[in-house]
Order: sequence, then structure tokens, then C-alpha cells
Amino acid sequence: MSFPAERPRRLRQSPAWRRLARETELTAGDLILPLFVIAGRNRAVPVPSMPGVSQLSVDRIVAEAEAAAKAGVPGVLLFGVLEQKDATGSAAADPDGVVPQAIRAIKSRLPDLLVWADVCLCGATDHGHCGLVSEAGVVHNDESLPVLARVAATYAAAGADAVAPSDMMDGRVAAIRRELDARELSHVPIVSYAAKYASAFYGPFREAADSAPAFGDRRGYQMDPANANEAVREALLDVEEGADIVMVKPASAYLDVVRRVRDAVRCPVAAYHVSGEYSMIKAAAKAGWIDERAVALEVLTGIRRAGADVIVTYYAQDAALWLRENGR
Ligand code: PBG
Repeated sequence: MSFPAERPRRLRQSPAWRRLARETELTAGDLILPLFVIAGRNRAVPVPSMPGVSQLSVDRIVAEAEAAAKAGVPGVLLFGVLEQKDATGSAAADPDGVVPQAIRAIKSRLPDLLVWADVCLCGATDHGHCGLVSEAGVVHNDESLPVLARVAATYAAAGADAVAPSDMMDGRVAAIRRELDARELSHVPIVSYAAKYASAFYGPFREAADSAPAFGDRRGYQMDPANANEAVREALLDVEEGADIVMVKPASAYLDVVRRVRDAVRCPVAAYHVSGEYSMIKAAAKAGWIDERAVALEVLTGIRRAGADVIVTYYAQDAALWLRENGR
């Protein structure tokens, strides 16, 4: 059967039909808002390459988290912007550091809002790499695992609802799971950045988090953008090691990877709409070349359609409000 018997437009002829025939729903409940925490009081330092995003002191983070919660966003993802850096990233595991402080402050004010904490060493190491580095400048895998596990346990002990390792060392999910379980934190889920690509889309984030590597690049641990089978392998390994949610990052240029990971695992899949993806929309909108709201919602819907159950995005709060205005 084909035209004229087949007329797909029949189901597109009115808002009600379109609503009924819609295959993918983007809702505020799918979104997680990343936030950057800095030291001090009443401080908001705008990130020039990410209009609308600021580094915020703990008191200001609570206000921002509250606004996101009011908009219907179910959770936030915290990144610490750390002043003290050393070779082993020891500031990341400080129980009184800005991230544990922010976790405690948000959870005491907003107990129902999910607080995820990014676990990595790049913001706390003087060399800016995501793991420990040898004299020869090699990123050590196995030596980094106990350090990452300690950072994760610090955040979980502070009350984080989930820890999210983004370092891409092999075996870190298992190491973190063991450490959490040993410290009676077995109820805390691990959101693993399972397929994290060595992407040029992280440029604005590295400015926001002050985490650019001082030498070399991250291609020795983050994935080659040309690979997709390997992403499925990474996701399956992380699930086996105890990951509760697996993440693909970035999102828009990796929609096929989101779909393949979605089809390969049985746990929720998250996709991270990263800084560069956000900044590109902002820049084009500012130039008057695109409609920001329509493009942002279209991209986020595309990421959901590709198979993401959860989207981490700097647009979380705006998108939640726009969706509400659109009656969704
Ligand atoms: C740190 C980390 C990065 C991002 C999240 N965690 C940057 C990187 O790996 O260099 C990127 C997030 C974004 O671009 O929005 N390991």
C-alpha cells in the first residue's frame, strides 16, 4: 500500500493529532543541571564562553539549585573549581572542600533535589590530567584508582545522591563501588561517564572549571571520536563493574552512540549535552541566526529520541521553563 492510500500527513493535521502521534517526550524530569562551585561568599563569576553560566559560591549555588528545582529540574551535577592544586589532586578529596560544602548546603535546604557530584582529578591536579601522572608524563591508570575512589567516597559521605566519575581510567567504577560499599555507602549510585570522547566540544568547560591539561591532551584515556563499538564495550564493562547509569558524552555529535548504548544495556542511559554544544547555540542565537529556544528544545528532543533517558545540560532550567510554557 502506498500513496494515495498512505497519507502520513493525516496524523499531523492538528495539534491534538500531533500530540497523540508524538513518539518522544522531552520533559523537565529528564534533565540534570551542571553547576560550578567556587570558594567564598556571595560570589558569581560569569564564564565568558558560556553566556548564562557562572561559577558560584556555596550560598549562591543553593539559590541556583532552588531556582532549578522550582522549574521542575530533578537534579544538579556539581563541579568544584579548586584553587589549591597539587600533583595528586588532594584538594578533591578534602571533606571540607567546596564540593562537599555545596552538597551539604543543597541537601539541607532542598532534600528532594538530587545532587550528583562529578568525580575527577583534572580540576585538582597541577598538571590538569584526570589521573596521576608519572615523572615521564604518563597518566597512571591503576595508581589513580584509589585516589578517585577516595574522592567519590568523600562526596558520597557528604550526602551526594550519586557520584559521577568522568576520568575514563579503566576499572574505576569497580574501585569506587568497593570503596563506597566498604564505607557503608552502598546505597549511593554510580553514574559512569562510560563513553566519554576526547572532544573539542569541552573547550568552554575547561575555562569554566579551570581544568585544561598543562601538557599533552586526553586522547590516551578519553575515546577516539571515530569509535562506536568501543563505546558499547565501555558501557558494558561499566555496568559489569557496578555502574547504575551509563553516560555518553558529548551528545549531539554522538547520537548513534547513544542509540547503540541504549540498545546494549538495561540500566538508564544519560547523555551529556556539553559546554561547546551549549555555547554554539548561544553564539548563533546572539548573532540572530537561529531561534535559541526552538533549536535548544529540538536538540534536546533529538538526544531523547536517540535513546537518552537522562540529559545533562546547561539548558536544564531554561528548557524546563520553556516546556512548561509550551504546556508540556
Ligand atoms: C572533567 C570533565 C570535563 C567535562 C566534564 N567533566 C572536561 C574534560 O574532560 O576535559 C566536560 C563538560 C562540558 O564540556 O560541558 N574530566
